[in-house]
Amino acid sequence: MDSRRVLISDVDGTLLGDDAALKQFVDWYASHRDELRLVYNSGRFFASIRESIASTLLPMPDAIIGGVGTEIRLCSDGELVESWSDRFDRWNASELRAVLADYPQLEPQPDEFQSEFKISYFARNLEDGFLDNLRQRLTKAGFRIELVYSSQRDLDVLPAGVDKGSASSYLAKYWNTPAQRVFVSGDSGNDLKMFQQGFLGIVVGNAHPELKSLNSQHVYQSSLPCAAGVLDGLRYWWNHTLADIEPADIKPAEADPTEAV
Ligand code: GLC
Ligand code: MG
Repeated sequence: MDSRRVLISDVDGTLLGDDAALKQFVDWYASHRDELRLVYNSGRFFASIRESIASTLLPMPDAIIGGVGTEIRLCSDGELVESWSDRFDRWNASELRAVLADYPQLEPQPDEFQSEFKISYFARNLEDGFLDNLRQRLTKAGFRIELVYSSQRDLDVLPAGVDKGSASSYLAKYWNTPAQRVFVSGDSGNDLKMFQQGFLGIVVGNAHPELKSLNSQHVYQSSLPCAAGVLDGLRYWWNHTLADIEPADIKPAEADPTEAV
């Protein structure tokens, strides 16, 4: 077991969004570096997150999970954890896009936000019923997919079993870190699955209703915004030990990496 704990955090609206708060977080992190691995978990891809690291106070992390769980890269050289992406179903992206083109509500996001394993749309104010029907139709057509809807605006279509939560579990296992030693923080719908892995959760004060409504002993709802909320949550959870958490609440990670470092 690695003795370091791990913070896996969303970036936009969570660590970024309030410069003064980010400065506080960065100062705290500088004095806890030896005890904590830092991971960014974003809907954006690796290159875009690296740009944010270069242009803001964001510290260099130990890994970046990009594209809503579709890529895990170790820093600083960005080496891809191929054992994660090798597990994805191969789907026919052009067939899938053709089916989704039937829906006028779905506006494809620009190419820079698309990849082999992430097909993303802008889609305002979708109802749950619409998402259920879409899921059913795609499943009937033989696609094994995950639909992730965030901020009443973004719809991501991902391979089945892939999201920010499963990628986080995979990385925690890859590092041999038990779920109770992993903190996760976020602000919107694509972060939701991170809070369902038995990790210690932090929802920042400016979060969307989709996370504000989480009510679990594994989730700390901070009243502070962005990085100040992350720091508030870390301080809250830091002294919790395994004994504080009901074993029944601890969901074992599903990911089972064959290759551990
Ligand atoms: C980021 C990505 C976008 C995605 C959204 C929600 O904004 O750039 O493609 O749809 O996160 O996951
Ligand atoms: Mg966010």
